[in-house]
Amino acid sequence: MKVLILGVNGFIGHHLTARILKETDWKIYGMDLSAERLGKLADHPRFDFVEGDISINKEWIEYHIKKADVILPLVAIATPKVYVERPLSVFELDFEENLRIVRQVHRYGKRIVFPSTSEVYGMCGDKEFDEENSPLVLGPIAKERWIYSCCKQMLDRVIWAYGRQGLAFTLFRPFNWIGPRLDSIETAKEGSSRVVTQFIADLYLGKPIQVVDGGEQRRCFTYVDDGIAGLMKVLANKNGCANGGIFNIGNPANDHSVRELAEMLRELYAKHPRNRGKKVPPIIEVNSKQFYGEGYQDIQTRTPSIRRAKEILGWEPKVSMKTALKKTLDAFLAEADASRAGK
Ligand code: UGA
Repeated sequence: MKVLILGVNGFIGHHLTARILKETDWKIYGMDLSAERLGKLADHPRFDFVEGDISINKEWIEYHIKKADVILPLVAIATPKVYVERPLSVFELDFEENLRIVRQVHRYGKRIVFPSTSEVYGMCGDKEFDEENSPLVLGPIAKERWIYSCCKQMLDRVIWAYGRQGLAFTLFRPFNWIGPRLDSIETAKEGSSRVVTQFIADLYLGKPIQVVDGGEQRRCFTYVDDGIAGLMKVLANKNGCANGGIFNIGNPANDHSVRELAEMLRELYAKHPRNRGKKVPPIIEVNSKQFYGEGYQDIQTRTPSIRRAKEILGWEPKVSMKTALKKTLDAFLAEADASRAGK
């Protein structure tokens, strides 16, 4: 099988590339702005990497859509701070650039595996979010935070509609995937990383962990190896099981409040060999208006139903919260120390 991955150096892209090259005989074509996270993988004989921008290198993309069997357009802005600060960049990249790709995949009769998101459910009140029944609940227009959710939801609907005209597709919805190289220390310095990397970077930089609006809001954290295992099942598509389906890929057992997350990471960091004995920064509370700006609104609970993923794909997550955080922390600290030593 030939797989085209756009955004191949991203968090999901580079973990997926490593798994495909290790476990299958598939060929990968990949594009991204850089190959930093990919490292040595970029030289693998079954991997054609090209440095490029999806909004510029359009001919390369169209040519490779024709060559590939399955296309994963993973390029997107996916950090809430940017949704609020630059909503039009989210629309242009996440929606417009991806729409062009969806249309080409349909035109050339190929299969698309599209990253939807847990965010499409928004402030849904269901105890468990169900792909086929839960309502998708967004806030008012002035709350720019929802532009990402709205762009992804619209693409889900467009892909679904093309599906009725013959497009082969699967939508998968990651629920707070975490792991090595989720976000860099550089984005964390600007305060625009996703929460796990933000808290780890704060500890590393000796700054207080900032818990937004009391920290009672909850997320289900999914270790990236589990998430990638689910995505591999989607790609392998045994007997066409994933065709035309939507799958939540999340870990309902790792359901924690943001405050609990802060406490767990603080404790792990305090005990970590590189830190033992030193003072650990405190946890402080901040207001979301100060932290993100007026356009922010939060999601209080977000638990996936994984019934479909279990029954149809034969997938379920295995990695506990403690192991997931430990591995993420270890990788972050090793990388931060190495880059500091290199400077
Ligand atoms: C994320 C992002 O939208 C996407 O990465 C993705 O599509 C999706 O959810 C997902 O990964 O499933 P969210 O979970 O709100 O959204 O993003 P985080 O930035 O990781 O924030 C999680 C929670 O931590 C929020 O309630 C936020 O207010 C809080 N937070 C964040 C803090 O309390 N302090 C911080 O320093 C950062």
